Amino acid sequence: MTSDRRGPGEILVVSRSEVDSLLSPARCLERCLETFRWVGEGQIEQTNPVNLYIHDRLGPEPPFGHGVVQAFPAMIRPLDRAAVKWLSSFRMNPKRGLPAISALDLVTDTDTGMPLALVDGTSVTNARTGGHSTVGAMYLARPDSSRLAIIGCGHEGRTHALTLNERFPLEQVVAFDIYEQQANRFADEISARIGVPVVVAPDVETAVADADIICVVTTAPRPVLMEEWVPAGAHVCAATGFRDVDPACATSFDKWAVGWYGRDLAWVEGEEVGRIGGLRPGALSRADIFGDIATEIMPGHKPGREDDRERTIMTHMGMPALDAAVASLVYDLALEAGAGTWIEVF
Ligand SMILES: NC(=O)c1ccc[n+]([C@@H]2O[C@H](COP(=O)([O-])OP(=O)(O)OC[C@H]3O[C@@H](n4cnc5c(N)ncnc54)[C@H](O)[C@@H]3O)[C@@H](O)[C@H]2O)c1
Repeated sequence: MTSDRRGPGEILVVSRSEVDSLLSPARCLERCLETFRWVGEGQIEQTNPVNLYIHDRLGPEPPFGHGVVQAFPAMIRPLDRAAVKWLSSFRMNPKRGLPAISALDLVTDTDTGMPLALVDGTSVTNARTGGHSTVGAMYLARPDSSRLAIIGCGHEGRTHALTLNERFPLEQVVAFDIYEQQANRFADEISARIGVPVVVAPDVETAVADADIICVVTTAPRPVLMEEWVPAGAHVCAATGFRDVDPACATSFDKWAVGWYGRDLAWVEGEEVGRIGGLRPGALSRADIFGDIATEIMPGHKPGREDDRERTIMTHMGMPALDAAVASLVYDLALEAGAGTWIEVF
């Protein structure tokens, strides 16, 4: 493992713009694939996020949204690193000029226990979420998927388009956002970056009508993608679970996969149900899930896609291992590039 030659109390601070320039979608995807494999092999120790609910989602929504502050700890044995993401989500924060999501990743060396780096966790979260959706799509979407629909043209919309483009022969992207200006900006930026035409659709139903892969990455408080609009053969990447996707997709599609049971069951039938991601208590259960990517589908214990007409969906609420492993990669990339700012903390 690369290591710095600074004093034990010096850490490297890596800012958002530095993460964005250091971490390519290809490198991030490669690390996400390794992380799912390590989770399946039992080489990672992680706990579900520690959730500090400022407001309970089961109660009425306050003016700036239901707030939650979460800690995501994980130890990645193959990297000799541990990290924790410290994340805040306030859905309606943009109404007061603040981001809905903000996060910091603290990376530690597990040989010495010394802190190594403080990395902007928002950009890492954005990148690894596009990464984990792409890992799921590699097993569940048709390999020849060329038509991508992006519903919600924010940070996740961007990382999903960029990362899926690494693995699928995209020929067309159709975008929809409740704010047309957002969708137009996204179309200009993404078509220039990936060299594929991006058209803006007038509504969600039109956007998904011909899609092979549909990413629903909005901050909408209720479903914007309805089950009956999803064509045969399509795969849905649902980054917010069933908060913005019709829960009927879980039971009517051929396969509903999750990223890793250890994380996702807390949201489906554990302590988070009803509070994170909008699923109502008792609405769905483990029995509705076909399999998980990390321990069943990726190691080959269960099949991924089996025919061209299957409709599939993957939900994953984000496991701490992904943040830890990608933040650790960012630290290594920053050392290699001589980027970041050293801070003496003790
Ligand atoms: N599963 C995970 O690990 C994970 C990780 C990060 C983010 N997320 C979730 O992904 C979602 C998107 O995050 P982001 O950082 O891209 O947010 P963002 O604010 O950058 O973008 C969200 C976009 O959704 C649009 N939108 C809101 N309501 C809409 C509607 N009804 N129809 C269409 N578009 C609508 C907004 O205008 C905005 O452009 C959030 O809900 C977030 O909680 C999940």
